[in-house]
Amino acid sequence: MPSSTPQLKSSIVYTLSIVSLVMLLVLYWAWRDDLLLLPEPHQTTPDPIASLDFVTHIPSRSLQCTSDTFNTGSWVHRPLQLKEDSIRGMEEAVNYHCRANFPHKCYRRIDDNFKEFNRSLRIVDYTWEPEMCTLIGTDPRKLTAHLATNPLLMVGDSITQLQFESLNCLLGQDLTNVQLDANLTGGDPKVWAGQLVHPSRVQEQGAVSLAYLRSDYLVRLDDFKIMEPFDEEGYLIGKGSNFPWVHALDRFSYIVINTGPHWHADLKWGPNKSDKELVQAFAKGMDAVFKYLKEHVKPHQRIWVRSTPYGHAKCSQYKKPDAVPHAPSKKENEYQWDLLESFDMVWKNWIEAEKDERFRFLNVSSMANLRGDAHSSPDSDCLHTCLPGPVDDWNQLFFHEIAQVAASSISTS
Ligand SMILES: *[C@@H]1O[C@H](CO)[C@@H](O)[C@H](O)[C@H]1NC(C)=O
Ligand SMILES: *[C@@H]1O[C@H](CO)[C@@H](O)[C@H](O)[C@H]1NC(C)=O
Ligand SMILES: *[C@@H]1O[C@H](CO)[C@@H](O)[C@H](O)[C@H]1NC(C)=O
Ligand SMILES: *[C@@H]1O[C@H](CO)[C@@H](O)[C@H](O)[C@H]1NC(C)=O
Repeated sequence: MPSSTPQLKSSIVYTLSIVSLVMLLVLYWAWRDDLLLLPEPHQTTPDPIASLDFVTHIPSRSLQCTSDTFNTGSWVHRPLQLKEDSIRGMEEAVNYHCRANFPHKCYRRIDDNFKEFNRSLRIVDYTWEPEMCTLIGTDPRKLTAHLATNPLLMVGDSITQLQFESLNCLLGQDLTNVQLDANLTGGDPKVWAGQLVHPSRVQEQGAVSLAYLRSDYLVRLDDFKIMEPFDEEGYLIGKGSNFPWVHALDRFSYIVINTGPHWHADLKWGPNKSDKELVQAFAKGMDAVFKYLKEHVKPHQRIWVRSTPYGHAKCSQYKKPDAVPHAPSKKENEYQWDLLESFDMVWKNWIEAEKDERFRFLNVSSMANLRGDAHSSPDSDCLHTCLPGPVDDWNQLFFHEIAQVAASSISTS
């Protein structure tokens, strides 16, 4: 019947279009797997990082920095705008609230017509920008309140002291200096330490929120002993202090340790006074530390072993950050800065092999190694860097790590 053909055709077309429309919709939903998966319960559990009150910004998981990816990037010139050309103006611009006067606060050196102050300004005109990742953002005041219940201990040589000084300035708005509590130092009046407390706990006897203990080697060099209070410091290479520290660990949730720059070639390590003997001795000493920590650190405690960036000989020649690092050569430094990365790798390899969530390696090297221009007191030092400066960026990475660690302890508890 010729008259029925167009009718049949149109109903086939009609059915076909409905079917293809439905298929397209199904395809669309399948492609937008986020839409398809949205109702599933495991997608609706909140990210534990979001429940931390000190976190201000959470990048998606795939964008969050690891300490290694953080170190791939560049120093971008972004001049600070100071409201006034003064110490106060600088402190306001970088949000510093320092609780003590330290040797490395270059911006406080205003003699010689503000020479060092002006240099300090040039140092902070550069911001570290990781290339492929983003840090979790944190609020310094709320983070300090977190440390009131999860105290932080820093142990190491003057480079860790520098990191402690930076923490003291970045978090100092809510930290109070208190009289040193003898338990922290093990009761020995010869031992000094840094001890700061959040105002909410200042009335409590023996309270501590942030502390620093000086140990240039973490072990006694003579016998690689983990020192106890009142033990003799023993042999030291160069000026410094090697105080006992493990007696204090129990009081802290977060612990940062480091050693390196004070280790030098020495007849103590072998008859040849060689680098090989030195690195072997370092590994032997650190093995004693790692064994001790694995045995004694509690499941809720977290230890970071921080890397050591190197110095730059004749650092006054550097006027801005480098794009390519200037690694120290054997000849140009008497301090063996060229071995610092070998020391770091001893720890990094152990921590990566161990897969023990109590231990983390904090890499701050590659970004800091580009800052030949940021060293304190040009040419007599050239290892420490000025505050404010790159060490504040180490601490931004560290705050990000604290957020990750605090979140993982929520999700496992
Ligand atoms: C730090 O990270 C950079 C970039 O990922 C890497 O090249 C370097 O080897 C790391 N250094 C240490 C001491 O881990
Ligand atoms: C430091 O900067 C100020 C203001 O720009 C300037 O007046 C002063 O001469 C500078 N000092 C030196 C030593 O360059
Ligand atoms: C000091 O340490 C001793 C023993 O280690 C302990 O009994 C005492 O409570 C501690 N005191 C304070 C103030 O932490
Ligand atoms: C010291 O050097 C000598 C000669 O080069 C070598 O035979 C020996 O193995 C070295 N000793 C150590 C402990 O490296």
